[in-house]
Amino acid sequence: MPAEIIDGAAVASKVLADVAISAAALAKHGVVPGLTVVLVGDDAASAVYVGAKEKACHAAGMNGETIRLPATTTQAELLAVVDRLNADPAIHGILVQSPMPKQIDPQTVIRRIAPEKDVDGFHPINVGKVLIGDRDAFAPCTPAGVQVLLEAYGIKTAGMDCVIVGRSNIVGKAMASLMIQPGPHADCTVTVCHSRTRDLAAHTRQADLLIAAIGKPEFITGDMIKPGAVVIDVGVNRVDDATKKTGFRLRGDVHFDSAMEVASFITPVPGGVGRMTIAMLLRNTVRAAEMSGANLPI
Ligand code: GUN
Repeated sequence: MPAEIIDGAAVASKVLADVAISAAALAKHGVVPGLTVVLVGDDAASAVYVGAKEKACHAAGMNGETIRLPATTTQAELLAVVDRLNADPAIHGILVQSPMPKQIDPQTVIRRIAPEKDVDGFHPINVGKVLIGDRDAFAPCTPAGVQVLLEAYGIKTAGMDCVIVGRSNIVGKAMASLMIQPGPHADCTVTVCHSRTRDLAAHTRQADLLIAAIGKPEFITGDMIKPGAVVIDVGVNRVDDATKKTGFRLRGDVHFDSAMEVASFITPVPGGVGRMTIAMLLRNTVRAAEMSGANLPI
C-alpha cells in the first residue's frame, strides 16, 4: 500500500488558526505580539521568505515588520539595530534572515539577540535549553514543526529508531535534541548521519523514523528505506526546469515516488515540512509575547 501523505499545509493552517486565537486573547490585554525580521542585502529567495513571514503575521492579527538594510551594512551597524530591537518592549520576536553578507559573522549576530526574543531558537541559550528539555526554550521552527506533524498524524514515536540525515545546527542537531527527549512525540533512539558516515544506507534502513535534512535533491531512494518507516523530508532544493516560469522546480531530499512505495507516512515537497516553519515562527512569537508578561493578568 502506498504511504499516507502528511499534509503540511493543513496542519500549518491549524497551527496558524490557534496562533490567531492566542494573539486575539493577548490583544484584549493590550499586547499585540510583534515580530521584526531583519533582512540584510538583496538575496532573492530571502526576500520571498521575509515577505511571507510579514504577511503571515498580519493574517494572524500580529504586528510584523521587516527592516531592510543594504548589502554593505557593517556588522556594527547590524548589531546596533539588534540592540534597538532588544530594548523595544513592543517587539517580542527578532529574526535576522540568513544568509547574511560575508562581512557579518552570523554567530555574533545570533548571540546578540536577547534569548527571550530569539524566536528562531538559534541562540546558544535556547540551543542548550532544548538539549536539557527546558520547557521555556524556543525550539528552532523547522524541527519543532516536524514534531507537530508527527503529533497531528498520531504517530507513536516512543521507542522508534530515528535516523536523521544531516547535522546542521538548525535542523539535524536540533532535531536530534528534540527526538531524544523523554515525553510525547519524542522518546526515540536517535542516530545522526552526515557526509562522513560509513554505509549510510545501512543506517537509513534501520530507521522507523527517517528524517532527511541534507540539501541534496532526491538523495534518499526507496531502497534505502525500511518498509513501513515514517519518512520526513526537510529538503527544499531548487532543480532546473525550463518548463516552469521560474526556471526551477522544488525537490526534496527524498526520491518521492520510490519512497512512497515503501514508507507508511511521507511528507511531500512542497506542501510538507516547509509549510510548518512560518507557522512555528509565529507560534514562538506569541509565546514570547505571553512570556514577556507585560500588561497580562497573572
Ligand atoms: N533563512 C532561511 N530560513 C531561515 C530561518 O528559519 N531563520 C533565519 N534566521 N534565516 C533563514
